[in-house]
Amino acid sequence: MNQYPGKDKALRRNVLITGATDGLGLSLFRFFSQSGYQVFGLGRRPVDEFPHLSVENYLQVDLAASDLVQRFRQAWEAVGSPSFDIVVHNAGVGYLGDLSEQSEDSLRDLVRVNLTAPILITRILLSDLLDSEGKIVFISSVTTSLPTPSFAAYGASKAALEGFTRSLRVELEGRVEVQVIRPGATRTGMHQKVGMSKAKTRLFASPEKVAKEIFLAIQGKDRVVTVGRMNKLVTLVGPLLKWGPRHFKNPACHNVLITGAADGIGKALTLFYLNQGCRVIGVDRNEESGRALSTRHKKFQFIHADLFQDLRWADTLPTVDLVIHNAGINSTGPFETLESEEQDKVIELNLVVPLLLCAKLLKHRARTVFISSLSYFVSYPGASTYAATKDGLAHLACSLQGDSHTLTVFPGPVRTSHDRRHSPDNRREASRMEPNHLARLIGAAHRRGNRMLIPGLSAKGAAILGLVLPRAAEKLMKKVIYERFQPGNKKFKNEGSP
Ligand SMILES: NC(=O)c1ccc[n+]([C@@H]2O[C@H](COP(=O)([O-])OP(=O)(O)OC[C@H]3O[C@@H](n4cnc5c(N)ncnc54)[C@H](OP(=O)(O)O)[C@@H]3O)[C@@H](O)[C@H]2O)c1
Repeated sequence: MNQYPGKDKALRRNVLITGATDGLGLSLFRFFSQSGYQVFGLGRRPVDEFPHLSVENYLQVDLAASDLVQRFRQAWEAVGSPSFDIVVHNAGVGYLGDLSEQSEDSLRDLVRVNLTAPILITRILLSDLLDSEGKIVFISSVTTSLPTPSFAAYGASKAALEGFTRSLRVELEGRVEVQVIRPGATRTGMHQKVGMSKAKTRLFASPEKVAKEIFLAIQGKDRVVTVGRMNKLVTLVGPLLKWGPRHFKNPACHNVLITGAADGIGKALTLFYLNQGCRVIGVDRNEESGRALSTRHKKFQFIHADLFQDLRWADTLPTVDLVIHNAGINSTGPFETLESEEQDKVIELNLVVPLLLCAKLLKHRARTVFISSLSYFVSYPGASTYAATKDGLAHLACSLQGDSHTLTVFPGPVRTSHDRRHSPDNRREASRMEPNHLARLIGAAHRRGNRMLIPGLSAKGAAILGLVLPRAAEKLMKKVIYERFQPGNKKFKNEGSP
């Protein structure tokens, strides 16, 4: 008799499992195979190292590669370009230690494997998954519910992955199932690969047990599944640790660093802190606006740099006591129409750059402000990669809280050229928050020592709706944003990244 549900109706169902060469992926591969699925595994090592894999069912791809899209396409073609009914994004890498000690390469690889690869592979396979009315499963982690100071980048990458799924699910509702599964600590090789001793993992759950729960969860319909009773409890109480109140006032700051300081919210913050008598170092790639600010304000120092290419200036900064991670770009439209390179850029500027800058600047022991987005509470169908990066930033802020004060800001629409460019039709421009008002609210929240700021009454209302009635908030976002992004909508114009 079949031990697992779904065997008979599952015959000939094609499944792709990434990271099928070790740990949970390897166990999952076995469960699916034993249940009659046609299983394909993806890994980075040569096929002859694995008895359960062959050239017919193995895609050898290094998910950290910069040309991942081409490599994946080639490997997929090599196994006959099968249509997958289920894709399990399981491959992942960890890092244990202070963010300031994590090398740039390790940080980039981690974000690529844990976040960028699942997004880009989903994009490649989406039209087939739409045809087969398939299912995409993202293996996240219970760490998304807690601050993760000893593995800040890992926690941020998994939180970003969940942010991506929340928005993508709204886009694909009724067409492709999107599921998130969060295991807790599991006794796999992942921990030793980042230097943890085997003895420390003794009490962790066995990979076979966790993989079996994951396998069963994939047969079900739940959108988010946390594996294990204790871990479920963690997801309930963890958010209190992330966002609980903090009762102290921040002293006034004197030297402020702002990324993306020459326009929009960044410029408003620059002017706000200059008015407070602070010195402001502003980084931007817009030379003309940056130079104009430095001509007008003696206390403004402009660093002309493209954050995509150059972060060397951060190594030689004078001491700063407040860092504001403001620079960001968006890429909007239905996910299946968006270019991979654009998604890659959004992840780079909005998440990788702040991670790298935090790693470089932690030695300043400065307080930090992260400009996230209201999408954290309500999803953002039509900009799922952007939403991912903003959730990643919010998690990073919580993880760095122990080092010094961090404030995460969740703005709704703001009257800037960025919002104008990415709104489906700009019908409600007048109702957007004025950037100078937002800057004042941020300055006040920082002085009060708040951990989070949802600026404005309508943003607060939307956030409460997202928390209390998430499905109603998703419906609303789908109607007011996503549906207007449909290519048939004449008002829709995606001008890409600024
Ligand atoms: N273990 C835990 O405590 C735990 C807890 C929560 C969530 N998770 C998540 O569960 C998933 C599986 O983790 P695990 O514990 O099974 O880890 P694991 O034993 O280290 O397995 C990870 C798999 O991902 C593959 N992989 C890593 N980097 C890759 C790359 N650049 N290209 C292609 N494949 C790559 C690994 O290949 P190699 O064999 O070549 O290394 C391996 O097959 C991950 O997403 C992890 O974040 C794990």
